Parts: sequence; structure tokens; C-alpha cells
Amino acid sequence: MKTLEISAKITILSELELTDDQKNVVEAAKKATLTSYSPYSHFSVGAACLLDNGEIISGSNQENAAYPSGICAERTTLFYAMARFPEAKVLKLAIISRNKGRITPEVCTPCGACRQVILETEVRGGQPIELLLCSDTEIYVVNGISSLLPLGFNYDSLQK
Ligand code: THU
Repeated sequence: MKTLEISAKITILSELELTDDQKNVVEAAKKATLTSYSPYSHFSVGAACLLDNGEIISGSNQENAAYPSGICAERTTLFYAMARFPEAKVLKLAIISRNKGRITPEVCTPCGACRQVILETEVRGGQPIELLLCSDTEIYVVNGISSLLPLGFNYDSLQK
């Protein structure tokens, strides 16, 4: 029998410890929570990504009375970013949530479907995306989606 152990390294920073690029993308995500359309969950999520062309694209969750037709903030953001700039690489992605008007005290972590889309975007860009998962006081910095989606299914899996 063999075993495979999988671990992830996550750095936890305060807002004061962020670089300027990190701060800008986190601020854009925070602002985007205000554009959330979430009349059903009342849970507003904002996301923003920094591209290698210097653009910051942001988005928010958009819900629907037919629940599965809604979409998360991360996918809104990444799909829009890649539709506008198909040649660009995503360098950083910040995610933050607001509940009843306040930024949540727990970090906002991407759902499974969003992790899969982040993986595809990462493969497309050919480099890990730095994920900035924010709470009201801390930012979890994760260097690449493989830490949150180990053994992920991607383009390479189809080539074998
Ligand atoms: N949501 C996101 O936008 N991103 C996530 O990663 C988790 C969940 C949204 C979907 C739905 O509109 C609301 O939060 C409650 O699940």
C-alpha cells in the first residue's frame, strides 16, 4: 500500500501587510460586494482579479429565482475578465463577502464550481493565481488553486 499526503501552505496577513497590488485588488473586491444581486441569500460576495496587463476586473454574485441559474462572484469576475481580455493572464484573485451589510468575520472561500473555474483560468494563463481570501480583519494568501483543489481535473487530464 502507498499513501499520498496532501498539504497546503496558507499565509495569513493583516491589511497592513499587503503589497500595493494586493491592496488594490482586495479593495476592488470589497467594493464589488455592493453590486451583488442577492435577494434570496442576502449574502453578498465580491471578487476582483488583477491581470498581467494591469487591469483590475471585479464582479459579484448574481442570484436568480430559479436558484441554479444564479452565479457566484468568482465566476462572474473570471468569465468577464477573460471575455474582455482573452490573451491576458490572471495574476491575483481576491474574494470577500458581506452579510447584513458587514464584511464577514470568516474568510470567504470559493465553492467547488468556482475552484474548478479558477483551475481552468490558471491553466489558461500557465501560472498559479494568487488567491486572497478575505475576512473583516485577515487575508488568507494561497499561492495557486492546487492548494484548495488538490488532484484537480484539468486540460492535461484529457491528453492522457
Ligand atoms: N457565493 C459566491 O458568490 N461565491 C462563493 O464562493 C460562495 C457562494 C454566492 C452564491 C450565492 O449567491 C450566495 O453566495 C450564497 O451561497
